[in-house]
Amino acid sequence: LQGMGLDQPVFADPAEPITYVGQTIALVCAETEVDAQDIADFVSAHCIGYRGVPQEHGKPDWWAKPILAIDDAVRVGSIFPDNPHRAPYMNHVWRVTRPGSRFDWADTARDPLDKTHQVTDGMVRGVPCRIASGTQATGGQIHFYMEPQATLVVPADKDGLVVHPSTQSPMEMHQSSAMILGSQYNKIDVRVPQVGGGFGGKTEQTRFVTAAAVLAAHKLKRPVRLALTREQDTAMIGKRHGYYGQYQVAIDAGEIRPEDKGLIHGFFNRMWGDGGAFYDCSFIVSNCIQTRADSAYNVRDFRNEIDVCRTNHAPSTAMRSFGDVQMKVILESAVDDAAFSVGMRAEEVREKNLYARGDVTPFGQALSFCYMREVWDYLKETSDFERKAQDVETFNAKNRWRKRGIAMIPTKYGSGYNLAMLEQATALISIFQGDGSVVIHQGGVEMGQGLVTNIRQIAAYVLDIPMDMIEIKAPVTSVIPNPTSTGGSTGTAYNGEAVKQLCADMRARIQAFAQKMLHEKGPDWCTSKGIDYWNHPDTGWTTKVPAPGGGEVMIWQNLIALAHSERIGLTATFTAKVKGGDVATPALEYKPFEDQPGIPGYTPTEAAPGEFDNFVGFTYSGACAVVEVDILTGETKVLSTDLVYDMGWSLNPAIDIGQVEGAFVQGLGYVLTEQLVFQPDGPEAGRLNTLNTWRYKPPATTTIPLELNTHLFPRSLAPHVPESPYEGVLSSKEVGEPPLVLAASVFLAVKTAVRESRVERGLPGLFRMDAPATVQEVRRAAEVALN
Ligand code: MTE
Repeated sequence: LQGMGLDQPVFADPAEPITYVGQTIALVCAETEVDAQDIADFVSAHCIGYRGVPQEHGKPDWWAKPILAIDDAVRVGSIFPDNPHRAPYMNHVWRVTRPGSRFDWADTARDPLDKTHQVTDGMVRGVPCRIASGTQATGGQIHFYMEPQATLVVPADKDGLVVHPSTQSPMEMHQSSAMILGSQYNKIDVRVPQVGGGFGGKTEQTRFVTAAAVLAAHKLKRPVRLALTREQDTAMIGKRHGYYGQYQVAIDAGEIRPEDKGLIHGFFNRMWGDGGAFYDCSFIVSNCIQTRADSAYNVRDFRNEIDVCRTNHAPSTAMRSFGDVQMKVILESAVDDAAFSVGMRAEEVREKNLYARGDVTPFGQALSFCYMREVWDYLKETSDFERKAQDVETFNAKNRWRKRGIAMIPTKYGSGYNLAMLEQATALISIFQGDGSVVIHQGGVEMGQGLVTNIRQIAAYVLDIPMDMIEIKAPVTSVIPNPTSTGGSTGTAYNGEAVKQLCADMRARIQAFAQKMLHEKGPDWCTSKGIDYWNHPDTGWTTKVPAPGGGEVMIWQNLIALAHSERIGLTATFTAKVKGGDVATPALEYKPFEDQPGIPGYTPTEAAPGEFDNFVGFTYSGACAVVEVDILTGETKVLSTDLVYDMGWSLNPAIDIGQVEGAFVQGLGYVLTEQLVFQPDGPEAGRLNTLNTWRYKPPATTTIPLELNTHLFPRSLAPHVPESPYEGVLSSKEVGEPPLVLAASVFLAVKTAVRESRVERGLPGLFRMDAPATVQEVRRAAEVALN
């Protein structure tokens, strides 16, 4: 049993039911990949049969039938308990409620599956408000990394193994390898080469590929390579969590103070996630949503509540933006409904409720360095929002069956792991006396995000030598033990920080040595040895000086050779403690023990929840999208998007813009086209029918906005907001994940276009449109009838 809940078997237990279509039963080993595949196909087709799960005494009636939708799980109460007996240390933040909130205006006992959208009048602390209520569902998403899950295991020495998994989590794969063999960690060396894309899917779920391959190599005493096919990968590996939210928003109607019209006084939201068949990291995803649920808005009476459902799908897992894009779609949909209910443009409402510097989040973290409003203003200006909004209006007045929509959203995104233990990184430097070239070992995994380039840049900057003299190594656990997983957009930042401090130490060591030589041997001697970098203030020790045997050599090279001959250590390590995320988050609410659900196989315990620390910092960004929707066919064209992303001070704008655009487009697929379709019933119920690109639709050329403008927020535009002492490496901020959530703007733009058409045809302006906004969903939401 592996995984965060210690509940997922590497191979299904023959005494227990299979819990999802795609679960691993066995591994076939053969001399060639083709043979192994043929045997596995034969066994699957002819040697294995399935029958229904028998109704067992003591288990609820629903347990024997597959649960394939969040609605069904909510209906029967298939909810994971928070501290199950096998993994009582987990942490599930059930609610985030702003201290002192009142909900007398909300229907707190509303049936979770009541999906009506409506507006009622209410009073919030004596202020007349409109209460808009509705629901929003969001789907799952396949990671669609280029390289499916794979691991190569090679026996080494007499009883050791070298494991090469395609993973973001070397430490976790080390753990899974040691666990499945019951072996000491020092017998196993995990080496992670560059990974062909991960997007979160190679954080936790890779355990089930790695552990299986390790077991086979151990048994057979020979190298084993296990690489899943695309279809096996998609069926077996968990995906992004689908979510369902039911919200109620109280918005000021402006009846007492007209200038307050549009202020959101209350937000009450209940959410359920599709956790799949095992825990995996569903609670971490859910906690990430909880502490980002407020996004950029300061709301007085605020509550967000989340439960994670157990369903018969592959265990949902980490995926880029860790739940936040789902939350943004739900939250912004709610804000959109609220704005409509008071006859305001959603953007006006958004602007009115933005956090300002010094505000405090509902969970109690002060936003001491917030410049959300400055980013919003910059976005409004660079996107030319007012003109675009005007154009959309003009177009809509002239067209009946094609409607345009515009939406602009802000986003505040918390950075870090919320667990101080993980907020560290170690690096090791070695310098070669022969030519002064440098090797740095570190724990971050390169998967296309540019980590190696960024870290090499940092090392070159701090050591003040050319980048091509520096080699950055991929993680090797026998050199850098226990590396924190490259996830949560922390890989470059944390490992870069360790490398920065390590190089600063080494630089100081080499400088001290040179100064010692100057002091002991004098300036002429130093010049004769070609180590007098102080005489070259512009070029320092990169200055080229004549080499003794002819040609030129860099002062750095002379210094390193001399340092070696004087027995100065040319290797060092450094462990960086990333600062800022080590204070327990003050206002979190946990579900009482007596309310814990009991589902077969999971006994709740009364253990105290694990630690949950505050964010290291925040990024403040925004996006404006314009779409055109063909109301009759449901097709969407994205006409333009303007993204403003807050990088702090960018380390490498080329890489960062690539990350912003890549993440945004992945989000675009999520909100528009990528739909998981499961067989709803019959003997194949629960089989995923969208296993590859014949049926599953990641973004294609036609999905990309016709005009895509990306700006890194010029940090100098908020000069009055001082830099946080906990800003990322060299004052940069994270970028790997947050820009994905900006794609919620496109979903909202589609929703406003559909509303235009509905209202024009006399249909209610409050309506349900689930994500992704596929052609089918848009047509359903538009309610076009033949007569
Ligand atoms: N970019 C590419 N090209 N491929 C990837 O797999 N993963 C994303 C993001 N960008 C990914 C990517 C995810 S999920 C994360 S957490 C971050 O990169 C990790 O990189 P960093 O922490 O070094 O920024």
